[in-house]
Amino acid sequence: ALGEQVEALLCQMTLEEKIGQMNQVAGSRDTTGAPANTDIEEDVRTGRVGSVFNAFGAEFTRELQRDAVEHSRLGIPLLFGYDIIHGFRTIFPIPLGQAASWHLEGIERAARIMAKEGAAAGVHWTFAPMVDIARDPRWGRVMEGAGEDTHLTSLIARAQVRGIQGNEPGATDTLAACVKHYAAYGAVEAGREYNTVDMSEWRLRSIYLPPFLAALEEGCASVMTAFNTLNALPATCHPLLLDQILRREWGFEGMVVTDYTAIMELGQHGVAADASEASRKSVNAGVDMDMQSGYFIETLKTLVQNGQVEETRIDEAVRRILWLKAALGLFEDPYRYTSDEREAQCLLTGENRRAAREQAAQSMVLLKNEGNVLPLSDQHQKIALIGPLGNTPRLLGSWRGNGDHDDTVTLREGLANRLGEDAVILCAQGVSNQIGEDDTSGIEEALDLVRQADAVVLALGEDEDYADEAASRADIGLPGAQLELARRVLEAAGDTPVATVLFNGRPLTLTELDDLAPALLEAWWPGTEAGNAVADVLFGDVPPSGKLPMSFPVSVGQVPIYYNAFNTGRPKGVDPKYASQYLDIPNAPLYPFGFGLSYTTFEYGAIETACSEIGPDDTLEVSLTVTNTGERDGIEVVQLYLQDVHASVVRPLRELKDFRRIQLAPGAGERVVFHITPDMRSFLNAELERVQEPGLFRAQIGSCSESGEEIEFTVT
Ligand code: IFM
Repeated sequence: ALGEQVEALLCQMTLEEKIGQMNQVAGSRDTTGAPANTDIEEDVRTGRVGSVFNAFGAEFTRELQRDAVEHSRLGIPLLFGYDIIHGFRTIFPIPLGQAASWHLEGIERAARIMAKEGAAAGVHWTFAPMVDIARDPRWGRVMEGAGEDTHLTSLIARAQVRGIQGNEPGATDTLAACVKHYAAYGAVEAGREYNTVDMSEWRLRSIYLPPFLAALEEGCASVMTAFNTLNALPATCHPLLLDQILRREWGFEGMVVTDYTAIMELGQHGVAADASEASRKSVNAGVDMDMQSGYFIETLKTLVQNGQVEETRIDEAVRRILWLKAALGLFEDPYRYTSDEREAQCLLTGENRRAAREQAAQSMVLLKNEGNVLPLSDQHQKIALIGPLGNTPRLLGSWRGNGDHDDTVTLREGLANRLGEDAVILCAQGVSNQIGEDDTSGIEEALDLVRQADAVVLALGEDEDYADEAASRADIGLPGAQLELARRVLEAAGDTPVATVLFNGRPLTLTELDDLAPALLEAWWPGTEAGNAVADVLFGDVPPSGKLPMSFPVSVGQVPIYYNAFNTGRPKGVDPKYASQYLDIPNAPLYPFGFGLSYTTFEYGAIETACSEIGPDDTLEVSLTVTNTGERDGIEVVQLYLQDVHASVVRPLRELKDFRRIQLAPGAGERVVFHITPDMRSFLNAELERVQEPGLFRAQIGSCSESGEEIEFTVT
């Protein structure tokens, strides 16, 4: 019936009205690029707009919807889009932090809540999940993704799509998802935003594309094109990506929207001389909706009349857009997402805040804990909270939706909540965390407080807009004079315990800090409940359980850096001189992918398996026992990695294939079982065919990518 409704509507539409549906405009000044000059209300009434983004709020969307439904000739409802990346009003940890939890149910629940809040505020469609694999922490948008690993990112993409879209047709508390940025945006050269991407099709298909396919297999409704070029062609007019792979190979039938003014940017890229050429190239490649360029409106009619764009291509795009509107129930009731009552009830509820707090605590990664500085004890009643991030609500992170700093629990508040009224929290910023602000004159005051305290919490990191769109950094150390502050505080503290908490949106180079500081807790940007969640972990009410989803380099000179690298023909350690190595730093990162400590210790037993030789269709069961050998409850993420030792193409030294998140009481052990399937052993050969080849494999089970128990087996 929905199909018939859409076809009937399509038959009544003029070419201009069809093109109007393919036009998306920004509904607020809150833009991420050059705003197009449009009188939105007038354009909506004349059928020149199909979708408005950056549009939310029951009242605002209701009024705009009224313009479309009551004043345009065919009354086609608008589709409201908004970037709900890690929360609408209740802000959850940044996606990179969420990924560090390796907790798929938690990630799905966070996505579910953010969709529920957005839907209650009139939003229909969110531009998430962002699934760009990122191996270069200089790129500011690493904060929005799930890190460097294809398997982990794919699982998270699926969880996010499930959370955003739900599985109840007709529900009004879910949203349509949009997987982005298709494709390979995370590989911009030198980590510089919007830069060139050039990579083999083998790498594209092996590493960068699978998370997109995973999201689409989960039913993701739409796809956003990327800003970057891929092998000398912008992704927004890329026939291989948009037609061959997405439509023909993957059979995707949903809608493709561009990124912000990406069609306009075809001119700057140098593949279009004017608006007309940019429109023609993008629409013929398979773009259905133009975000904010206004080029379709300007040029498509003439292009169709001249025969340079087939009207059937326009019909196809419009059909997909109308389908999405129909699937959201907007033809039945265009106002079904615009309820003031629901909006008032659903945002920032106690339940949502609790979920945000829980996930924020789960996302934190304990990087170092020499001498068991952490957890702090209840005996610590006089705390010096030092650093630029101790007493600020700027802990939401970028892409913070409609999140409000006034709702955000600072670390100072979180510590005060945890310690109660009798505790004293002495607070000093010491230095700034702004790039280029190196004034150290506030350090002395901070040191005075340190000398009075019985424990010190050092809150360091990046400003929450330093990892964002258009926020690449060449130096990924602590900005400003924070390292100097840390050095002086640690000297002044003497035997007083000092716990350093880091708030940042990307892996940082922490080598010098790691040399100085006994305890380091990576808290990312934790969101609305930041301070409470950090206190939960600092005092051990919640055990730290996060594991890094991206490698933390020793030096920026190592990037791009990732755990699933090739061995090279001259790996380090064979010949002392003629080796793939640096003269001045190690090859290994400071903290590898998958790394994260606990307040307890875990012992991994030997791997057990029934056989060491299997057939190509067989699944091999491997298992081991993990025991909590410490004195506290702990949560461990047990990770399975696989290496195909000799194959027709080079295979990485290890690749994550599976993991389990287990909780163990002191002394308790659990047998963890993995099944190594033929699919896990398969890869793309030189002809880009997925194959499994016979020969030797190595399996590693451990607590991070760089350590673990190993066994070998052979596939006949
Ligand atoms: O969805 C975003 C995209 O990720 C970056 N450019 C702007 C879009 C809409 O806000």
